[in-house]
Amino acid sequence: MATMLVRGGMPLIGKIAVSGAKNAVLPLLAASLMATDGKTRLESVPKLNDVTTMLEVIRHLGGNINYIDDEIEIDCQNLNGNDAPYNLISQMRASVLIMGPLLGRLGKAKVSLPGGCAIGTRPIDLHLKGFGLLGADIVVGHGFVEATAERLIGNTIYLDYPSVGATENIMMAACFADGVSIIQNAAEEPEIVDLACFINCMGGRVDGAGTDTIVITGRSAFRAPYYRVIPDRIEAGTYMMAAAITAGDLVVENVIPEHVVSVIAKLREIGVAIEVLGDSVRVVGNGNILPVDVKTLPYPGFPTDMQPQMMALLCRGQGTSMITETVFENRFMHVPELRRMGAHIRTEGRNAIIKGVANLSGAPVAASDLRAGAALILAGLAAQGVTEISGVTHIERGYADIVRKLQEVGADICKK
Ligand code: UD1
Repeated sequence: MATMLVRGGMPLIGKIAVSGAKNAVLPLLAASLMATDGKTRLESVPKLNDVTTMLEVIRHLGGNINYIDDEIEIDCQNLNGNDAPYNLISQMRASVLIMGPLLGRLGKAKVSLPGGCAIGTRPIDLHLKGFGLLGADIVVGHGFVEATAERLIGNTIYLDYPSVGATENIMMAACFADGVSIIQNAAEEPEIVDLACFINCMGGRVDGAGTDTIVITGRSAFRAPYYRVIPDRIEAGTYMMAAAITAGDLVVENVIPEHVVSVIAKLREIGVAIEVLGDSVRVVGNGNILPVDVKTLPYPGFPTDMQPQMMALLCRGQGTSMITETVFENRFMHVPELRRMGAHIRTEGRNAIIKGVANLSGAPVAASDLRAGAALILAGLAAQGVTEISGVTHIERGYADIVRKLQEVGADICKK
């Protein structure tokens, strides 16, 4: 099993470029299943294990794929399947996003129940409720779920929670429904806007993405688009925090600054200097980390996917901070690992109380999930001595080339 070795103490200095967004490209790949005409071309595709898994799912369904450098060409004109097997779905929860396009296009979709990061139970009841309201019959069997519909009919769907995946999945199914569908209390994440733009490039009609009400006018056919994936706001935020925790001076390139507004605001509160320069953000840490309180919320609130990294940073704070996790019920698995490095963290339900310490020390630790792994890298970069991180495959699900990128700005990190 591979590990990452991080020797702390080096301030990160220089320029670091962000790749295309994992959470944008996965729904776009799923949406490529909608195109009955032409080949989809995607640019700025990050090299990630999750992308490979989604491509395997598409191949299994009959799609033809050409993947060169950071560009993918996908031909889904002749699909020959409507099911996704357990060995693929269990690797990645986002593979459930094939349900919406398949149900819409083929009238049937069957997937094994999803896996992915071990953060909470992560049900898909809202996805299924949406499909049901569009007229699909849903059967949940042992370990699988199947949705079928001869025709989908437009409807109004109120989501009890603004789930990102449910909004995306329902949006894609509704594209094929007769008439107009409205998703109320929809998720507002930038990745939702990106998916809506992609669908509109396919000849679809999605209005209101980025607000809590999305209106979808059904169509019968979609053509394959040419599209560039937005930059990864979580990767950007992670490198911004890497600059802060190492008292470094990093220019993070390929960023859409309005996508990281909440992260910038919190870093400024902590005392980190931030300058927005077009599509780059310069982050200068001075070693003083003021304590802050942070609550994770759906976008535009502070992202749950930045919570573990923020916790790593606050472990070095000059006082007591509190993090409240409201999105996932079991997302503190990095806490025991950070404690192994000398952090003072107490959890009470959804709250973590972090008492800053002057020094963290390197230790063997395990990444339980993707962002927990990123937090351990950040802690390792600031710790005295060597941190050996296992569970590297989790980290590689979401950070393209992270070792090389960090090495190039002065980090002492390698994969073993
Ligand atoms: C997406 C992101 C993930 C991020 C999360 C929240 C992708 C590929 N992944 O995941 O990185 O952490 O948004 O920003 O884009 N829920 C239900 N029923 C459902 C669906 C969700 O109860 O049917 C709950 C979940 O258990 C969770 C909350 O809603 O507590 C948020 O989940 P959701 O927004 O759906 O996250 P994902 O789309 O899985």
